[in-house]
Amino acid sequence: AGVDPAELAAIALTVAVEAGELITVERPRDLGVAETKSSRTDVVTVMDQRSQDHLLARLGQLRPDDGFAGEERGGRVGTSGITWVVDPIDGTVNYLYEIPAYAVSVAAVVGDPTVDGGWRPVAGAVVNPVTGERYRAWLGGGSWRGVDDEEPRRLQVGETPLELALCGTGFGYDADRRAWQAAVLTHVLPRVRDIRRLGSAALDLCRIADGSLDVYHERGLNPWDMAAGWLVATEAGAVVTDLAGGAPRERMTLAGAPGVHAEMSAVLAAAVAAVGPESGR
Ligand code: IPD
Repeated sequence: AGVDPAELAAIALTVAVEAGELITVERPRDLGVAETKSSRTDVVTVMDQRSQDHLLARLGQLRPDDGFAGEERGGRVGTSGITWVVDPIDGTVNYLYEIPAYAVSVAAVVGDPTVDGGWRPVAGAVVNPVTGERYRAWLGGGSWRGVDDEEPRRLQVGETPLELALCGTGFGYDADRRAWQAAVLTHVLPRVRDIRRLGSAALDLCRIADGSLDVYHERGLNPWDMAAGWLVATEAGAVVTDLAGGAPRERMTLAGAPGVHAEMSAVLAAAVAAVGPESGR
C-alpha cells in the first residue's frame, strides 16, 4: 500500500548506477576469484560480493522495511511486502574476461522470490557500467533506455518472424544441463536467423525490449538473473513466460514480441519433447 512503482524504479536505477561504478572503478588489476559455486566455472569474484554488499546497505538506508535477496551471501526479510532482488554482476564470466557485456540488475518484487514462479517484479533497472546503457521499467509505466545521463527513450517491441529472428540464449553452469541445452539448440538453430550467447541474461531481456535481439530463451535462470529484465521486456510489449504460458521460471524463460514468442514457444515445446528430460533429473 502506498508504494509508487515509479519511485522504486528511480531507486533501482540510482543504486544500480552506484554499484556499476563500484565494479568498474574499483576492479582490482588481479581480479581474484573468491570462490566457485555450482561448478568450477561458476565463479564469484570479490567484486560480486562487494557490489551486493553496497546494494544491501544502500537499499537498507532508502527502503528500510523492504526485504532483500541477492545472488551472493546475505539477505534481509522485510515487512513491507516488497523484496529487492539483485544480481550484483550479471555476466560474471564476461566481467572476469573484461568483455563489456555485464550488468547490475536491481528489481523490486512482490510475492516470495524463493518460490519458483511465485513472485512478480513491479519496478527494476539494469545498468551496463561499461557502455553506460541504463534500462528501467515500472509496472504500468513503460520501459525506458538511456545512455549515461541522457534523456531516456521509451521502448516498444516490434515483430520479426521466427525465421528472420536473432535469438538470444544462455547456458547454465552444470554439465548435464548444458548437454540438454545443446540438444535443444540443434532443433532451434535451423529455424532462426542466428543465435547469440551474449553472457548476461539481464541484458538479453533488455535487448528484447530495444529490439537488439528478437527472441530469447533460457532454462535455469534464477530470480536475480531475470527479475528486472522481465519487467523491462514486458513493459515494452514483449511476452515473457515459461513454456506453459505461465510466469517465467527456473525450467524456462521465453521472451519476445507476441508473434515471435508464440512461434518460438511451439518450436521449443517440440524440441523439448524430442530431446526428453535432462539426465540426472
Ligand atoms: C549468468 C548469466 C548468463 C546466463 C546464466 C546466468 P551470472 O548469470 O546471466 O548469461 O546464461 O544462466 O547464471 O552467473 O553471470 O550472474
